[in-house]
Amino acid sequence: MTTVPAVGPGAVRALLALAEHAARRAGVVIVEDRPEHLGVAATKSSPTDVVTEMDRRAETLLREILGAARPEDGLLGEEAGHEPGASGLTWVLDPIDGTVNYLYGIPAYAVSVAVVSGDPTVPGAWTPLAGCVHNPVSGETWTAAAGLGAHLLGRRLHIPVPPSLDRALTGTGFGYFTGRRRTQSRVIADLLPRIRDIRRIGCASMDLCMVATGRLDAYFERGLAVWDLAAARLVVEEAGGVVRGLGDAPPSQDMVVSAAEPLVGLLADELAALEAAADAAPAPGGTG
Ligand code: IPD
Ligand code: CA
Repeated sequence: MTTVPAVGPGAVRALLALAEHAARRAGVVIVEDRPEHLGVAATKSSPTDVVTEMDRRAETLLREILGAARPEDGLLGEEAGHEPGASGLTWVLDPIDGTVNYLYGIPAYAVSVAVVSGDPTVPGAWTPLAGCVHNPVSGETWTAAAGLGAHLLGRRLHIPVPPSLDRALTGTGFGYFTGRRRTQSRVIADLLPRIRDIRRIGCASMDLCMVATGRLDAYFERGLAVWDLAAARLVVEEAGGVVRGLGDAPPSQDMVVSAAEPLVGLLADELAALEAAADAAPAPGGTG
């Protein structure tokens, strides 16, 4: 069993400084070294789930920086997998969150770096200690440290009192499997007439940070991996919001719902009633 280390405020600040340093270094690489004709290096879970050579390069750089500074800690990244450590802390990395935006040159992607205690491979078994979500194009950098608040470029974030569900600007995302997308389109068709509007930005970590910043009132998505949400979850929580699953479940691949109370509970109840955390059969003629 992993021993969870006691980490005081000074140590948490140092972890956050390292997370931000690493995220910014990777951000420089993905912007400045982006090949003019960037192609898809490989596909992952389905033909629409792509990876570029720059996702891999950026993750390699993150692992080098963090491994050199904190050799006892574990590493879990989207592209290179899990290397358990001995300290009870694990760095959870998405080198480019929003790879499809990056591929198309849409400036809505981010480097996400978090350090968590516990086991990040088990939903509900990990706690984020520090996290940074860095958009290297806009320069916007969200940071959060456990107990020490969330910040956007140094400005402390406090989520405003949320509107009612029928006035909620709501972010979401769509999965890479056709069966999941069929369910997601059914859920959106039901929800859209009953909320302010939908945004599909294409970068889950920034969606969550937008909830923390008051640019979205709420966000939900089925299918997120831990690297999509580890850093941004802490940004939301430290800004006074909630990141949860449906019912009593923690946020996980099944469902992530985020907003301030009471909106988050109302949205979670709606999603549960719509059976949003289930996938339909694959679409006939679909690609995945
Ligand atoms: C994806 C993005 C997208 C979300 C997907 C994620 P990736 O991350 O965050 O907005 O809808 O669920 O997988 O693949 O670009 O790192
Ligand atoms: Ca990614």
